[in-house]
Amino acid sequence: MMHLYATQGSQGPTTWDPTAGSGLSIPEEHDFESLAMMKAIAFAEKSWNPPRRNTPEIVGILRKYAKIGKLGHCRVYKDNDGQVLGGIQLQLEGDCGDHSLPEGMRHELRHGEAYVEWIACHPDATGRGIGSQLLKWADLFAASRGASFISLDVMKKNEGAVKLYERKGYVVTVNKNEDAVDRFFTGLFVWALMGCKYWTVLHMQKALELTECEATDDDSKVQPLR
Ligand SMILES: CC(C)(COP(=O)(O)OP(=O)(O)OC[C@H]1O[C@@H](n2cnc3c(N)ncnc32)[C@H](O)[C@@H]1OP(=O)(O)O)[C@@H](O)C(=O)NCCC(=O)NCCS
Repeated sequence: MMHLYATQGSQGPTTWDPTAGSGLSIPEEHDFESLAMMKAIAFAEKSWNPPRRNTPEIVGILRKYAKIGKLGHCRVYKDNDGQVLGGIQLQLEGDCGDHSLPEGMRHELRHGEAYVEWIACHPDATGRGIGSQLLKWADLFAASRGASFISLDVMKKNEGAVKLYERKGYVVTVNKNEDAVDRFFTGLFVWALMGCKYWTVLHMQKALELTECEATDDDSKVQPLR
C-alpha cells in the first residue's frame, strides 16, 4: 500500500488528532514503509539523499530487526489511518547495535544501560507530545527490563531536541566507553555523513527509578505503579 507520506511528499499526514491515535505499538511488517518514510523525512537534513531514496534501506533493517526480535524494543505512534507519525528504537542488553551505522560506529552498551538509538516524529506532527510519550515509554520499558539508566546521542545543533531531553531529566555527560580519539572520529564521521552540517555530538543520560514501574506480559502497555 502506498502511504500518505509517499504521495504527499513533505506535506505529510492530514488526519492528525492527538487524542485519536492508536497509542504506541510494536511496528509490524505492514507499518515498515510508513515508518521508514517517517524516519527518512524526520532525518532528511542529515542525509545527502532525498527521503524516498533512504526508505528501502530502512525497511531492510526493520525486516532484519523483526527476524532477530529487536523490534520488541521499538514503538511507533500511528494515526487513525495507520500512518506512522512517530517512533523510537531502544538498544537493550543483548541487542545488536544500530545497523544503519557502520559496525565500528555502533553504540557499545554499558552495564545497566538502555540506549535510545533513534527517536523521531513526522515534521507535521512535532510539538504535540508524541516525542514526550515515546520518551516516557522508553523510561518505563527500560526500567522494567532492568536498566538503571538511559542514554542517547544528539547533535548539539539540534537545540530543540536537546531542550526536550533536558526537560525530561537527561543531562549531558561523557560516555566512558569513548575516549578523545573516539570522539574525534565520531565527529568526523558525523560531519562527513550528515551533509557537513553537524560536528558535535552530545551524549546525554538520566538515571531510571527502578521502583517506578513494573513489567507486564504485554510490554506495549508498561504501566506506572500507582
Ligand atoms: C525531537 C522530536 C522527536 C521531538 O518530538 P515531538 O513530538 O516534537 O516532542 P514533544 O511534542 O513531546 O515536545 C516538543 C518539544 O520538542 C522540542 N522540539 C525539537 N524539535 C522540534 C521540532 N522540529 N518541532 C517542534 N518541537 C521540537 C521542542 O523543545 C519542543 O518544546 P516546546 O514544547 O517548548 O516547544 C521531534 O521534534 C523530531 O522528530 N525531530 C526530528 C528528528 C530528531 O531530531 N530526532 C532526535 C534525534 S536525537
